[in-house]
Amino acid sequence: MEIVKTKVAIIGSGPAGLLLGQLLYKAGIDHVIVEQRSADYVSSRIRAGILEQVSVDLLTEAGVDENLKAHGLPHSGIEILTQGQKHRLDLAALTGGKQVTVYGQTEVTKDLMHAREQAGLSSYYEAHNVQIDDFYTQPKVTFQYQNQPYQIECDFIAGCDGFHGVCRASVPEDKIKTFEKVYPFGWLGVLADVPPVADELIYVQSERGFALCSMRSETRSRYYLQVPLTDHVDNWSDEQFWDELKNRLDPESREKLITGPSIEKSIAPLRSFVTEPMRFGKLFLAGDAAHIVPPTGAKGLNLAASDIAYLSSALIQYYLDGSEQGINEYSEKCLQRVWKAERFSWWMTHLLHRFETESEFDHKIKQAELSYILGSLAGQTTLAENYVGLPYEIKHLSEFQQAS
Ligand code: APR
Ligand code: PHB
Repeated sequence: MEIVKTKVAIIGSGPAGLLLGQLLYKAGIDHVIVEQRSADYVSSRIRAGILEQVSVDLLTEAGVDENLKAHGLPHSGIEILTQGQKHRLDLAALTGGKQVTVYGQTEVTKDLMHAREQAGLSSYYEAHNVQIDDFYTQPKVTFQYQNQPYQIECDFIAGCDGFHGVCRASVPEDKIKTFEKVYPFGWLGVLADVPPVADELIYVQSERGFALCSMRSETRSRYYLQVPLTDHVDNWSDEQFWDELKNRLDPESREKLITGPSIEKSIAPLRSFVTEPMRFGKLFLAGDAAHIVPPTGAKGLNLAASDIAYLSSALIQYYLDGSEQGINEYSEKCLQRVWKAERFSWWMTHLLHRFETESEFDHKIKQAELSYILGSLAGQTTLAENYVGLPYEIKHLSEFQQAS
């Protein structure tokens, strides 16, 4: 058996694990990443594409912002289409100048993987039968890599292995509580090399259900339709998709919409999920391993990033200053922000989707709520400040280095 000793073993090479690795590397903290899939698989997954300013700042601090700055599209507003009328929310004016950046999570992952390769950092891709043990005492990670058994001995394990990962599943049942809400519909997403229908994202609330017009670049669009959970992607030809999208749009957008062959098409279920706490002895959960939001608020990747901001800061504080304060506060600090993002994502989902079970009264109340939000400065502000991302305080690497 190969024995590897390191300070932090990161399980999972999604955005959460990769970003943590990069921030630890910048701070000179020894770590490895263990990932069950291949590097090619990880870097080609199609995911969401909106970064909060705080996430952009964190990627900048990690030194992986070159492509992001060159190709990311800053957006200072979004449109909400309801009852056939588009309403623009001027995010920047409503939040004192904040904006979001359109940049695919796939690109974020590729940039982080590239930075890791350049720095010659160690990752075990295609690791099989990954198991974690003894995380309340002397943490260990075991797995098979290139047909060899491996054991990692470490100070801490970062469980960045997504919703279906092994880390959360390894916590004794009496030490963990989970909260879940599953929605009775999914999102059918299409990626196509056609120019976006508008310069800004359009969130569509219609009698036929929710739709979203998003983009990846000036020549690549990402569109979504609310569909029943029982639906199957094979039931949707490209033509049917475009027709249904047109049906949910306003006449002007319908006219402008440029259609083309899909390069990816898939249905994703919508779920809200939170794990409490997020730390178990020397095991930390971060990102999708700890929580899931429905994508309506564009918060999934951003929440993973804020967990990693807290976790990297806590580990840097521990190794550079010898203080356990950040480690002890990790779970509580993350969860405060997580629950607020859960609330916002649930609320946006509730407000913009058609629920089969809702009564006519419920539906009217929802229309009134949306109309109130869009017609009131206070209402617009509450949506905008959540959408651009609630602020959070963390101690940055430069502050630790100044202190020591
Ligand atoms: N051992 C090793 N790796 C594992 C295991 C395991 N047992 N189980 C899962 N993994 C890997 C997955 O293959 C995946 O590459 O962990 C990684 C988790 O990555 P993500 O699912 O992308 O999760 P995270 O890094 O938290 O990113 C959060 O992804 O799903 C979106 O909305 C979400 O945008 C958010 C972001
Ligand atoms: C996307 O571009 O994939 C996207 C954008 C905004 C969302 C969800 C997904 O709220």
